[in-house]
Amino acid sequence: MKIFVVGASGRVGNLLTAILAENGYEVYAGARRPENISASGELIHKVTLDLHANVAEIGQVLNGMDAVYFVAGSRGHDLLQTDAFGAVKVTQATQANGIDRFILLSSLFATEPSHWDLPGLADLTDYNIAKYFADTWVIDNFKTNYTILQPATLTEDAGTGKITINVTDGGKNPIEDVAETLATMLNKPVTYRKIVTMHSGNTPIAAAF
Ligand SMILES: NC(=O)c1ccc[n+]([C@@H]2O[C@H](COP(=O)([O-])OP(=O)(O)OC[C@H]3O[C@@H](n4cnc5c(N)ncnc54)[C@H](OP(=O)(O)O)[C@@H]3O)[C@@H](O)[C@H]2O)c1
Repeated sequence: MKIFVVGASGRVGNLLTAILAENGYEVYAGARRPENISASGELIHKVTLDLHANVAEIGQVLNGMDAVYFVAGSRGHDLLQTDAFGAVKVTQATQANGIDRFILLSSLFATEPSHWDLPGLADLTDYNIAKYFADTWVIDNFKTNYTILQPATLTEDAGTGKITINVTDGGKNPIEDVAETLATMLNKPVTYRKIVTMHSGNTPIAAAF
């Protein structure tokens, strides 16, 4: 399989790129500054991609892929163009290329505005609005096998390899566990056309699906 990772130079993206290549996939790793993609190897191809590009331009870099991950984000600096419309355009380009697997990294309760006043989320409303529109666009428009992963707060703690999914409360997730979860759900039909919420827990990642 050829897999495109949008946001491959980020904290999640770098780890995800490395795991996918370790799992034997050919990874096309995209970011504006691909020199910041630390993962390397013969299965990893670094690609320049700016989410300000139009759908046709994004479609050109996705041509020939079997699956697409979107793990990019602007850290609040460019919410409309990157987190919201960037995700929508990648979804549109994925679908236009006939790619039937799309995995979107979102954020806990992004599709549940009634939860946005919970501790830790109250200062992130603009971010949650951007993610809300990206997530709901995917749910309403992507015709085949999307999965939206909504983790709680990301931390740089060592991964535990254990998570809880479909959570109803907040929490934390080591970035390693989020990257491993994203890689694991690639070929899991039980995650197709679903939102999966998560934080750290007691279930080994593979067993969670
Ligand atoms: N922080 C949290 O607690 C938390 C919790 C839940 C979910 N999340 C989600 O997880 C995502 C990933 O987190 P992270 O820590 O890995 O993020 P990060 O380290 O900031 O990485 C963001 C990635 O997005 C890319 N990017 C930004 N703007 C872009 C643009 N215009 N065009 C193309 N690529 C662009 C960056 O690469 P370039 O700058 O080189 O383009 C980088 O690869 C976040 O964006 C957020 O949506 C975060």
